[in-house]
Amino acid sequence: MSELHPLLATRWSPLAFDPVAVLSDDDVSSLLEAARWAPSVANSQPWRFAVGRRNEETYKRILENLSTQCQHWAGNASALLVAAHLDHATLPHAVYDLGQAVAHLTVQATALRLHVHQITDFDAAGLRADLELADDLRPSVVVAVGRVGDPAMLPPELRVWETALRTRVPVAELLVNQVPIT
Ligand SMILES: Cc1cc2nc3c(=O)[nH]c(=O)nc-3n(C[C@H](O)[C@H](O)[C@H](O)COP(=O)(O)O)c2cc1C
Repeated sequence: MSELHPLLATRWSPLAFDPVAVLSDDDVSSLLEAARWAPSVANSQPWRFAVGRRNEETYKRILENLSTQCQHWAGNASALLVAAHLDHATLPHAVYDLGQAVAHLTVQATALRLHVHQITDFDAAGLRADLELADDLRPSVVVAVGRVGDPAMLPPELRVWETALRTRVPVAELLVNQVPIT
């Protein structure tokens, strides 16, 4: 079987983030640059981001709008980003484009030895209000970014998740036609 590139093979979504690791200005620029260069329908680039680093007001506002369960672990991430897309009738694929931009950002994070954990378990209305997002912006996902922390810091129920074997359905189950695969 062909090898997965290390940038993809080493990516995973941790719950334990190092609570003191800091994201530099260069790190933030690099992540946004990766998102910026994602492909999009007709180069529409319908993605927008709000970025907060730990101890910044934006971080606090994003964290407050996560579910209580996610707050427990995401509050140790070095940065919390809101990834939103333009909600225009002329951009029916905006959410798909945004997903590609976040995927790019995630690969870049891996290259910087950072980890990303995406979160959809948040109060979208609260986030929109607290970040004063424009009416045509729809927050799609919160992106927690940081350095991997010690799983021992997690409560037992989260530690089980953190250390569980990661699985995927086999490629054969993804295929809807006959393709010779090894
Ligand atoms: C769009 C999106 C939303 C997600 N939302 C949550 C979430 O609300 N809470 C959570 O704990 N994990 C969330 N995750 C993380 C997934 O559970 C995780 O990516 C999946 O279990 C696969 O694990 P891996 O990323 O380590 O390969 C989300 C991931 C994506 C891509």
